Amino acid sequence: MKRLFLQEVVARDGFQNEKPFIDTEDKIALINDLSHCGYAKIEVTSFTSPKAIPALRDAEAVMAGIQRQPGVEYTALVPNVRGAERALGCCLDEANLVMSVSDPHNRANLRMTREQSFAQLKEVIGVIGQASIAVNVSLSTAFGCPMQGDVRLDEVLAWIERFAEQGVRGISLCDTTGMAYPTQVQALAQQVRDRFPSLQLTLHFHNTRGMALANTVAALQAGVDRFDASLGGLGGCPYAPGASGNVCMEDLVHMLDLMGHHTGIDLDRVLAASARLPGLVGHDTPSQLLKAGRRLDLHPFPQQAHALARQVSDTPLERAQ
Ligand code: COA
Ligand code: ZN
Repeated sequence: MKRLFLQEVVARDGFQNEKPFIDTEDKIALINDLSHCGYAKIEVTSFTSPKAIPALRDAEAVMAGIQRQPGVEYTALVPNVRGAERALGCCLDEANLVMSVSDPHNRANLRMTREQSFAQLKEVIGVIGQASIAVNVSLSTAFGCPMQGDVRLDEVLAWIERFAEQGVRGISLCDTTGMAYPTQVQALAQQVRDRFPSLQLTLHFHNTRGMALANTVAALQAGVDRFDASLGGLGGCPYAPGASGNVCMEDLVHMLDLMGHHTGIDLDRVLAASARLPGLVGHDTPSQLLKAGRRLDLHPFPQQAHALARQVSDTPLERAQ
């Protein structure tokens, strides 16, 4: 079976949505651990306005502090030209540009119209491209917007086309508030793959309505091989009403391993890292696997059931009737 590429977004999508500030040193230590888990890519932080996303105001320090592992790409979110200028000094492998397919979410999240965002990002692509940093564009609300409702498939394709014309390496289709459903995912992913075969395509699901794993299977059926997910299932956009966590990385890896896919991920290491999250963020995470264990993590036969079984076998036949 062909290799799947998993991209860890907890340090960006996960931490951007946490209220208490997570210490820079703790972020660096976590990312250093994650670098040994087998991920294709790690989104380290975002070069957004510290007023908009105070949780990630230490982007430069985190980028400077991490120990990079060969074979892992390090990326960060960039929303505008100012963000690109900051990112340029940080030796990124990739800049992950962002805008929304829906107008209301773009205005709420980035305080720009979509055309203003596109103009900024076009400029960013020019600057970043000259520095030989790869460019990915994350299209938020690609499967629906919590303020607008449905987003037209042809509109998503039109934005991809405009960015493809600018020579970007990749596109992420982001289900910002978990509005995607499997047949919709399969239809869009199939069209994007057919029309833009040379683009690196990532699917970015949130589990807001419990459909993220089902959506992943639908995307696999359309031939997608690259997925974002977040350790512990943390995540969410503070400027998208009703947003909640990304698909949980360990739950996703567990499912893909069982299905026989080659992910290259060390699930034990991922689980060990995930177990540290509640200590960092101060609350439980949505991880199912941390609570339930793997499918074949067996339990001892219950003591209570032992006693009951003994009682039944001690009971004389006539009394038991
Ligand atoms: N990094 C740091 N500072 C930035 C910045 C950036 N990328 N972009 C703008 N600023 C600063 C400006 O220098 C200016 O500072 P000043 O008040 O000291 O002069 C101030 O922010 C306002 O600048 P302006 O261009 O008017 O930006 P804005 O306030 O309209 O914010 C964004 C626009 C895009 C920067 C902001 O909305 C943002 O960061 N959004 C990101 C949201 C996000 O990450 N969501 C989750 C991920 S999908
Ligand atoms: Zn997201």
